[in-house]
Amino acid sequence: MKNKITPKNNEVRLADDEFIVSKTDRKGVITYTNRVFMHIAGYSEAELLGVQHNIVRHPDMPRGVFKFLWQTLQQEKEFFGYVKNMCKDGSFYWVFANVTPDYDDKGNLMGYYSVRRKPSQKAIDTLSAVYAEMLAEEQRVGTKNAADASIALLQSKLEELGVSYFDLVMSLDKD
Ligand SMILES: Cc1cc2nc3c(=O)[nH]c(=O)nc-3n(C[C@H](O)[C@H](O)[C@H](O)COP(=O)(O)O)c2cc1C
Repeated sequence: MKNKITPKNNEVRLADDEFIVSKTDRKGVITYTNRVFMHIAGYSEAELLGVQHNIVRHPDMPRGVFKFLWQTLQQEKEFFGYVKNMCKDGSFYWVFANVTPDYDDKGNLMGYYSVRRKPSQKAIDTLSAVYAEMLAEEQRVGTKNAADASIALLQSKLEELGVSYFDLVMSLDKD
């Protein structure tokens, strides 16, 4: 489900000890949400369960980030990243997310599990600028090539800096 909410420039912040937890099926449809998720995003449990996780997608987020997330998960690897999300009232909240494959006791992939916490201000400042550049690149090349183009831009930035994506993400996790 895509929402038609108008974004507003109001930030909701996670407390240092708060974690947003959700689970999805293999397609990203929400199957579990904790109370912090409902409280921060402003949705009831009934509004979240059975709905695509893009319900909290913020238009400032480049498509490339989500393509990279899904590519990582399809390789059954865990993903770390910073995500700007949108609340039901259009406010935004930043998270440092860890998304992992979720298996049943026979080892079958059931879906995915995500735990997010408050990101450092350094990460928010750095990634706001990087994501804005990625988004501009996506708008420049058009929808069809958007995700690949912005992933390429991110890759070239990492090469310039001489760091891996994982190293960048982890280095930004300290204020
Ligand atoms: C476990 C899990 C958690 C996710 N959490 C978020 C999230 O917090 N915010 C978000 O925008 N997308 C999240 N996604 C990705 C969405 O499923 C979706 O790919 C993304 O919002 C892009 O949506 P779009 O393709 O409709 O633009 C998550 C996916 C999984 C599997």
